[in-house]
Amino acid sequence: MNDTKLDLYEVTLEPSGKQIQVKEGQTLLDGIIRNGLQVSYGCRHGNCALCKAKVLDGEYEIMDRVTDYSLLSFERDEGYVLLCSTVPESDLIVEIEEEESEGLEFHPVLDFEATIVNNERLTKDIHLIQVEMRQQNGIRYSSGQFFEFDIPEIEQTRAYSMANRYVEKQPLDFHVKRIENGAGSNYMCDLQPGATVTGSGPYGKMQLINREKDLIFIAGGSGMAPIKALVEELFNGQYQHQAWFFYGARTKDDLFLTEQWTRLEKDYPNFHFVPALSDQPNDEEWLGETGYIANVVEKYLSDVSQMDAYLCGPPILIETVTNTLYKGGLRRSNIFSDEF
Ligand SMILES: Cc1cc2nc3c(=O)[nH]c(=O)nc-3n(C[C@H](O)[C@H](O)[C@H](O)COP(=O)(O)OP(=O)(O)OC[C@H]3O[C@@H](n4cnc5c(N)ncnc54)[C@H](O)[C@@H]3O)c2cc1C
Ligand code: FES
Repeated sequence: MNDTKLDLYEVTLEPSGKQIQVKEGQTLLDGIIRNGLQVSYGCRHGNCALCKAKVLDGEYEIMDRVTDYSLLSFERDEGYVLLCSTVPESDLIVEIEEEESEGLEFHPVLDFEATIVNNERLTKDIHLIQVEMRQQNGIRYSSGQFFEFDIPEIEQTRAYSMANRYVEKQPLDFHVKRIENGAGSNYMCDLQPGATVTGSGPYGKMQLINREKDLIFIAGGSGMAPIKALVEELFNGQYQHQAWFFYGARTKDDLFLTEQWTRLEKDYPNFHFVPALSDQPNDEEWLGETGYIANVVEKYLSDVSQMDAYLCGPPILIETVTNTLYKGGLRRSNIFSDEF
């Protein structure tokens, strides 16, 4: 360790031999991304295990949020860590596979300060929160990505996906679902216009990669946010193929922005919006699809083998829909998802 910079640790990545500096208290993943390197990751919160890597030498601490489910005890014994939830306690040597970009755009991760300009309810528990960046030219991001907001009360961060496509100097829309006793979502949903928020970003790899084919978008609940950004991006440019958006909600009252989606369907005959309700009371009128979204997808599209699919929603939705898409012939490499 360098004596003049006591708060920095040197982390060597193998097999590339690249060296980066990571601040005391900073996660390895944060240090890696902020040094402009690309590795596999998803939730940034110790859940998805996509950021698993092996420490070959040095001292470190794995955060309490990592459960035995995300990182098995024998893996810990062998030196495996989750980069998003591990902080160095000495210089380290870490075995990491760097990722090829494969058409993804990477933007520098920056700390931001922003002002809340609007907070309104879209459903009984989902809020539209609009945020204006104070950085002179905003922060560049790709449609489908997310930011992390600082949640002061718990001194942690929570991730929220932008719900609009990237446009310079436009307020950013977020759809935040209020979770009972959830520190982050309640903090966000209670923010009033004029309030200051801080955080960092952009993060995430759900980006529109190939518009030269049929596309399928599937979301549930607040998972509509990044999907909306991607579809807006798609139809803002030339798109000659077929795009489907399947949206799963529990009841009619949980649907939102429906008019916007049906308008898009009218404007673009190659866009198809299919909302489905899983828990709609029988005595209320609903002429659309019912049941779980995975079954509805199967009903509409039996062969998805040539498509790309973008999924966002709770783990059970991602799991059931992924199985349906596999059955329809889609390969894992053509499925892009954010789970929350
Ligand atoms: C990449 C990414 C993007 C995300 N984008 C969005 C977004 O656009 N909009 C959005 O609303 N959220 C989004 N999330 C989820 C968000 O980051 C928080 O996890 C969520 O708001 C809950 O945080 P909390 O602090 O309120 O709850 P916590 O205090 O973390 O949890 C409180 C309790 O609620 C449970 N819980 C947590 N999440 C849920 C849930 N979704 N449903 C039911 N119970 C839950 C927990 O298990 C716990 O028991 C995203 C997450 C990730 C990883
Ligand atoms: S567990 Fe680290 S990114 Fe999901």
